[in-house]
Amino acid sequence: PAKKIAVIIGSLRKDSINRKFAHEVIALAPESLNLEIVEIGELAIYNQDLEENGAVPPQAWTQFRERMQEFEGVLFFTPEYNRSTTAALKNALDVGSRPYGSSVWTGKPAGVVSITPGATGAFGANHHLRQSLVFLDMPVLQQPEMYIGSAAKLLGDDGKVNNEDTKKFLKKFIDTYAVWVETNAKK
Ligand code: FNR
Repeated sequence: PAKKIAVIIGSLRKDSINRKFAHEVIALAPESLNLEIVEIGELAIYNQDLEENGAVPPQAWTQFRERMQEFEGVLFFTPEYNRSTTAALKNALDVGSRPYGSSVWTGKPAGVVSITPGATGAFGANHHLRQSLVFLDMPVLQQPEMYIGSAAKLLGDDGKVNNEDTKKFLKKFIDTYAVWVETNAKK
């Protein structure tokens, strides 16, 4: 059966370039992967007081944690905000990592795609995100690295990637990630 992979997008805006690329990658994915976007925009900013000492955690946190249990891997699309990933994405990592000892992330094979209209390929975001994934014990695909710069220019008016080399690169990436999942997913 196809492996279920959560696609998490670090931008909350509706016209997000990262979201457009995520849809492109989902369309290019091999049959061995079943990719689904999991939304993170409704998660309250993490605060321990909201669930410790008998407090009932926000419903959005509980739903997110339960939903994430269904998935065997996670593919992250991150914009770069001030040379880091976004607060929204970091917050989703924090929410999913708690309560202590029941993290939803542990051991799930991950991939990181960083996308920016700027020139640097969101390298800073990509690597700040990877720092947390090391601690969260996720095996993260290393190659091919996915730093997509000048990304707005790679999209047509229809919001789809209009550059054949970029499409080939995205295809190579998702095919390699699929092998990574087969090799590293928990049995
Ligand atoms: C940005 N942007 C940006 N771009 C970049 O390449 N490096 C950076 O450090 C930053 N910093 C930054 C901070 C904040 C607060 C905002 C709002 C934006 C620009 C960013 O790449 C651009 O808005 C992208 O379009 C965001 O990705 P989505 O929403 O299109 O997926």
